[in-house]
Amino acid sequence: MRKPENIEMQDLSRPLSLPVEAYISPEYARAEGERLWAKVWQHAGRVEEIPDVGSYITYDIANDSILIVRTAVDMIKAYHNVCTHRGRRLVDAPSGAHSGSGSKKQFGCGYHGWQFNTEGRCTYALDKDDWQGALTDARTHLREVKVDTWGGWIWINMDPQCVPLREYLEPAATLLDPFELEKMRYRFRQWVVFDCNWKVALEAFMEPYHVAATHPQLLKYGDFYAWSKAQGLHGNDGYDTRTPEDGSAAVTTVHRTGKGRDARAMIAEMQKEFWETVGASTTETLVSAAARLAQELPEGTPSQEVHHHWLESARREDAARGVIWPTITEEQMAKAGLAWHLFPNLGMIPGPTFALYYRTRPYGVDPDKCIYEAVALERFPPGREPRTEWKYAEPTAQNWRMVIAQDFSNMVAVQKGMKSRGFTGCLPNPHQERKITNFHRNLAAYMGAGALRPL
Ligand code: FES
Ligand SMILES: [Fe+2]
Repeated sequence: MRKPENIEMQDLSRPLSLPVEAYISPEYARAEGERLWAKVWQHAGRVEEIPDVGSYITYDIANDSILIVRTAVDMIKAYHNVCTHRGRRLVDAPSGAHSGSGSKKQFGCGYHGWQFNTEGRCTYALDKDDWQGALTDARTHLREVKVDTWGGWIWINMDPQCVPLREYLEPAATLLDPFELEKMRYRFRQWVVFDCNWKVALEAFMEPYHVAATHPQLLKYGDFYAWSKAQGLHGNDGYDTRTPEDGSAAVTTVHRTGKGRDARAMIAEMQKEFWETVGASTTETLVSAAARLAQELPEGTPSQEVHHHWLESARREDAARGVIWPTITEEQMAKAGLAWHLFPNLGMIPGPTFALYYRTRPYGVDPDKCIYEAVALERFPPGREPRTEWKYAEPTAQNWRMVIAQDFSNMVAVQKGMKSRGFTGCLPNPHQERKITNFHRNLAAYMGAGALRPL
C-alpha cells in the first residue's frame, strides 16, 4: 500500500497525547499483525548473514515467518516460511534460538517430505500423481515476499503493492547514506525477551530527555537537551545549538563536550566511559585517539580545535590499519543528528565507523512481551571482520553494560504503569520527544486510528 494519507496532517509542535491502547490492548496487538507488520518494510537481518548461494535466515514477526535465501551471487529472495501442502512451518528455528539460519540447496518439509528449491519451486511431492495433475508449479510454489537491501540490511515487505524500499526510507536513506552503513559489519549482536510492549522497549532509546534521570552519571558531560524531528515516517534527534556552551554543536554527533571544562580531558573521559559503560557507539580507535589528546595538544586549545584534532587523529590511525572513513561533511553530520528512528521498529545511532542499533518486535501477538535486540556495527579492515552469532543475554548490567541496563530498568515498570486505571495516555515532550509523537502519528495512520488528541 501507499503510505497512509493523513501522515503529514497533524502539527507535532503542539502538545499531543498518545493513546495507551497502542501499548497494552490485545486487540490492538493482533490488529498490528494485519495493518502494520503486513504492510511495512522491516529490517530482517544483515546482508553479511547470507554470504553464499543457499545461505538463508528466517525472520519472525507477529504470526508470520519469512524465509530469506541467497539464490545467486547478486540475488536474494524471500518467501513466506510455510509449506504449501498442509501449512507446516517449513524451516524451524532451533528451540530457544533467535532465528533459523544455515545453508541449503533444498528445503525439505518435516511433515510429508515435500521439497522446495531456493527459487521456491516445489521439486518433490510424494505420490504427486494422486492429485491428478492439480499440483501445478504455481499452486505449490512458496509464496514470495518483497525483499530489498539498503545500508547493509535486508528488508522485507509482505505487501505485494508496497512502495519501493528507497521511497519508503526517504528522507532517512539520503541523510544516512554518507555513513556508508553497508560497509560496516557486526561487532556484537545480543537479544532478550522483555515483559513489555515492543514500543515501550523501542521508546526507551528514542530521546535524550531521559538522560538526566535514568543516566545521571552522564550529566557531568553537559546538558542533553535535544531537538527531535519528524522525517516523514521516520525521525531523528540531535543536540540543540543552545548547548554545548562552547558552540561545537556541528561536530557533536560522535560525542559531546560540555560545561566549559578542558575539552581534551572531557573527550578522553567521555570516550572511555562510553566504551566501558555502553560498549558501543564509539570505537577503540576513537577512544585511544581521545586518550592521546592531552599529550598532543597544549592546555587551553579551543574545544572545536580539540574535536577536529581528535577526529583527524582517529581517521589517520584507522587509515593505517585499512579502515577508510567515509567523507561526511559537517553539514551532513549536523543534518543526520545523533539518533534515528526508522519506522516502525528500528532505533539507531550512526557514526563514521560505527553504528549502534536496536530492533524491537512483538513476541507473537502478545502486547505485554517483546523481543529486544541490540547490535553494534563497525567498519573493520578488509578480511578482519569478526564472526558473530546471535547471543541470548539476560538483562543484567554484566551482559549489557551499565547504560543499557539502566534503560532496561524502566521498561517493565512502564508496561505495568500504563495499565493503571489512573493513567490516561502518554504526554511526550513536544520538542525533545517529537520522534515518539511522530512514530505514534504514523502508527495511528497505518492502524486506521484517528489523529492524536491535543492536550
Ligand atoms: S505440510 Fe509440508 S509436506 Fe505436508
Ligand atoms: Fe538511555
